[in-house]
Amino acid sequence: MTQARIEATIPRRVWDSRGRPTIEVEVRLSDGSLGRGIAPAGASRGSREAIDRRDGGERLGGLDVREALAAIELEVAPALASTVLTGPLAADEILLRLDDTPTKSVLGGNVTVATSIACAHAYAASVGLPLWRVLADDARPSGDAQVSIPLPEIQIFGGGAHAGRRIDIQDLMVIARGASSVEQALAMTAEVYLAAGRLMAQRGAATGVADEGGHWPAFESNEHAIETLLRAIEAAGYTAGDEVAISLDIAASEFGARGQYRLGLDKQTIDSDGMIDLLGRWLERYPICSIEDPLAEDDLEGMRAFTQAWGKRIQIIGDDFLVTNAALIDAAAAGGACNAALIKPNQAGTLSEARDALGAARKANWSTVVSARSGETEDTTICDLAIGWNARQLKVGSITRGERTAKWNALIRAEQALGAAAFADGRWLRVSNAGSP
Ligand code: PGA
Ligand code: ZN
Repeated sequence: MTQARIEATIPRRVWDSRGRPTIEVEVRLSDGSLGRGIAPAGASRGSREAIDRRDGGERLGGLDVREALAAIELEVAPALASTVLTGPLAADEILLRLDDTPTKSVLGGNVTVATSIACAHAYAASVGLPLWRVLADDARPSGDAQVSIPLPEIQIFGGGAHAGRRIDIQDLMVIARGASSVEQALAMTAEVYLAAGRLMAQRGAATGVADEGGHWPAFESNEHAIETLLRAIEAAGYTAGDEVAISLDIAASEFGARGQYRLGLDKQTIDSDGMIDLLGRWLERYPICSIEDPLAEDDLEGMRAFTQAWGKRIQIIGDDFLVTNAALIDAAAAGGACNAALIKPNQAGTLSEARDALGAARKANWSTVVSARSGETEDTTICDLAIGWNARQLKVGSITRGERTAKWNALIRAEQALGAAAFADGRWLRVSNAGSP
C-alpha cells in the first residue's frame, strides 16, 4: 500500500483516432508518482451507457470537451485533493459520490473514466508494479488471483457505423482458436488480414480502412462479406473453424428497433424472427464461434430466442444490450439472454463498475471480452484490465493503426513477462457449423 496523497489532478484536451477531441487526466501523487488516463469514444453506442460530456455548438462539430475539462478542474480535482489512494480503484468511491447516476449525467462518463484510469495508474506507479498486477492483487488480496493473456478478437473488415454503413454488419473478425500464444495468434491474424487485402485488391475493391483499421468493405451483400472472410482464412493457409474461426459483431441496434430490422445492403426489412432465421443460416453455413449484439438492444424476446437456439453452441456477446452494467447482466442471465459480456470501461464510467459488470458475468458462468471503442488512443489500460481481471478475451479492432497495435503490442510484452502458459487459448470456443444442430 502507498501512503502517497493525490497532489494534483490535471486535465487536458487530447485527440482520438477519429481526430476528435477527448480528455486526458494526469494524477500526481506526493511521492512523485504519476498516472494518466484517456477516455475513448464509441460511435455505435448503447442507449443506456454512460454519456460523454461534450460542449455542443459549432466548435469541432459540437464535440469539444472544454466544459468537461473545467468540471475536472473545479469539481473533481478539489474532491480528490489530499486523498491517500488505498488501492488502484480507491478514487472511484469519490467519483461515484460526485455522480451516482448510472449514465454519469452529472460529470460525464468521459470525465469519470479518464480520472478513474489515471488514479489506477498513479497507484500502480506508487507501489512500483504493473497495473495488471495490482488489479489482480486488489481482487484477491491473498495474491493467488489468476492472471492471463487474453485471446485476441481482431477485425478484418469494418462495416456499419464505422464504414459509412457500406455493409450492415459492423465487425467481421477472426479468432485464432488454434493459437498457443498471443504472439502466434497475432501472426496468424496478420496473415488473414494480408490475404483479405490481396483478395480485395484482385477484385479492384481495396478502398482503404474503416474506423478500427479493418479493410473498408466493398461487398454486394452481407453474406458476400462473410464468404470473403472465409476465403481469406483459407488463402492464408489455415483451416477455417479449427485454426481460425469467424466472429461477428452485428451491432443490430444500429439498424433495428421495435422488432424491425432494415438491412440496407440486402435491401430488405425483416422482423425479429426473420433476423434469427437469417443469422441461423449464416451460422449453419460458416465456421462462426462468436456473435455480438445479434438483435437490437430493445429486443429482449429476440435475444432470448436466439440464445435458446444457439447459446449452447457459440458465444453470444451482449454489448449495447448490456452496456457493461452489472444489474443488466444479472437480469439478462436470469432471463436466458446472451452467454457472454463485452466489458467497455467507458460504458460503465469507472473501472470499479466495469469490474462489477465482469464479476456479474463470471457469476453467471459467462465468458467475458474486454473491449476498446471505435474512437481510441494510445492508452493501453484495457490490456491491464483483461490480464489482471483474467477476462480471457480482448477486442480492439484490427491489426493496423497505432491506437490498435498499441494494445496488441502491449500484450506481446506482457506475454514475454508471464510466459506463453499464461495465454487464454480459444480451443474451448465451439464453431457453429461443426456437427448438426
Ligand atoms: P463503438 O463500437 O466503440 O463504436 O461503440 C464497438 C463495438 O460495437 O463493439
Ligand atoms: Zn459491439
